[in-house]
Amino acid sequence: MNMNQSDFLTLDPKELTTRQMHLYLLSSVAPRPIALASTVDQDGNVNLSPFSFFNVFSANPPIMIFSPAKRGRDSSDKHTYLNIKEIPEVAINIVTYQMVQQVSLSSTEYKKGVNEFTKSGLTEIPSELIRPPRVAESPVAFECLVDDVIELGTEGGAGNLVIARVVTFHINKAILDENGNVVTPRLDLVGRMGGMYYSRASGDAIFEIDKPSLPEGIGVDVLPEHVRNSTVLTGNDLGKLGGNQKLPSIDEIRAVRNSDDFGSLILQGNVQSLHQEAQKLIKENQVSKALVLLFSV
Ligand SMILES: Cc1cc2nc3c(=O)[nH]c(=O)nc-3n(C[C@H](O)[C@H](O)[C@H](O)COP(=O)(O)O)c2cc1C
Repeated sequence: MNMNQSDFLTLDPKELTTRQMHLYLLSSVAPRPIALASTVDQDGNVNLSPFSFFNVFSANPPIMIFSPAKRGRDSSDKHTYLNIKEIPEVAINIVTYQMVQQVSLSSTEYKKGVNEFTKSGLTEIPSELIRPPRVAESPVAFECLVDDVIELGTEGGAGNLVIARVVTFHINKAILDENGNVVTPRLDLVGRMGGMYYSRASGDAIFEIDKPSLPEGIGVDVLPEHVRNSTVLTGNDLGKLGGNQKLPSIDEIRAVRNSDDFGSLILQGNVQSLHQEAQKLIKENQVSKALVLLFSV
């Protein structure tokens, strides 16, 4: 790839304001999944807010982490964080496209004690093992106990990592296949990006990549130099070629050189055209054949 340092802007976090840093981080680490977190205070007042500093980190034990950060404006703490310090329980609800406007509304800074279920019009369902209710519109909801909260700083923008352990969870049967597995495309999930951007995981935005198989792929490093430096083949093409399990044999190379399809093209030594032909084969999922062609030059 023809890139060098002059193509990049290099930044030092110490020379940026928190607002600038926040924007760089959120615009580039994206899309982020959204936890719609339901909590209660010690008087039982319910709170509902979305958090995209969120992910799953462990299956055994089942651990999710999200971060209600200190407000940039005045370093004050969010109600979710305060509630969790009082009652260390949280329902983490998954966010779909069908509910994203209501979720956005629930992020409004209503006064402490105001129930954002009521404000957003989302529906409460009582949880089974924890006090905060879950969201009926979420096709998957996790009831969690909070094992720990790690405070990352004292100033505005400082994250508070809420380490939440799933104790039970609920899946809407409509998103399960006949074997009881979640069909991800049915979820129509949304993610948060930088600024006002969101993303929607549906249609063409969802695609599959087969898991690299065993024995391991040959690797991009063993491909001929003209292939690695090709102006036709993309990084994804190289990834597929490098994932092939074996190098072409002499016999295979000989056969393609003598073939009606490619023999004359190889003789002409027209590397660009050969790369285009190889790319067509890769698109048709004939990766081994593309590899033979590229090794025959
Ligand atoms: C989609 C989305 C994701 C958000 N992610 C975060 C986040 O990860 N951390 C955070 O501190 N605030 C985040 N916010 C802002 C909070 O939701 C907002 O500050 C909210 O008022 C906090 O509510 P609370 O004070 O009731 O806890 C997000 C807002 C939206 C709309």
